[in-house]
Amino acid sequence: MAKNDTTLYLYELAWILPSVALPVGMLAALLVTAFGAHIHLPGQAATLDPAHIDTTSPFDQPGLVEVGVGRYEARIIAGIWFFNPPEIRVPEGSEVTFVGTSRDVIHGLFLPDADVNVMLIPGQVTRITTRFPKAGEYTFICHEYCGLAHHTMAGKVIVEPLE
Ligand code: CUA
Repeated sequence: MAKNDTTLYLYELAWILPSVALPVGMLAALLVTAFGAHIHLPGQAATLDPAHIDTTSPFDQPGLVEVGVGRYEARIIAGIWFFNPPEIRVPEGSEVTFVGTSRDVIHGLFLPDADVNVMLIPGQVTRITTRFPKAGEYTFICHEYCGLAHHTMAGKVIVEPLE
């Protein structure tokens, strides 16, 4: 091989190696986070008939339920243009699983200070768990455009300080 050929070969190698290493690295990161750290996209937890939402468990009783020590389930129905319930109260340090759905069009549940960012879709049940280590008021909003009063669609989680 002439000297020029060797240089060209090294340049080629310098491009090819990272282009192989990048996707392999990303795939490895995906496998490690999914199976090692158990990080998953919040997916469709169940389906239901949106026409019978008021008689389908758990949405026949929307609101907050204590499911364990310091653990709560917040069952939330979204509709134009409200969240039911619009407000939930939990003690500081609680773990809250939001179980939500929509009764009409696609809505969103965005609670930026607690890493909640999911869609609420008619016919589907969305589940996502988060923690509230600090007392305070946490506003959640609908972040999927759902019509005229979309911008008014909001609610809050009130985290009460421990005595
Ligand atoms: Cu509901 Cu935007």
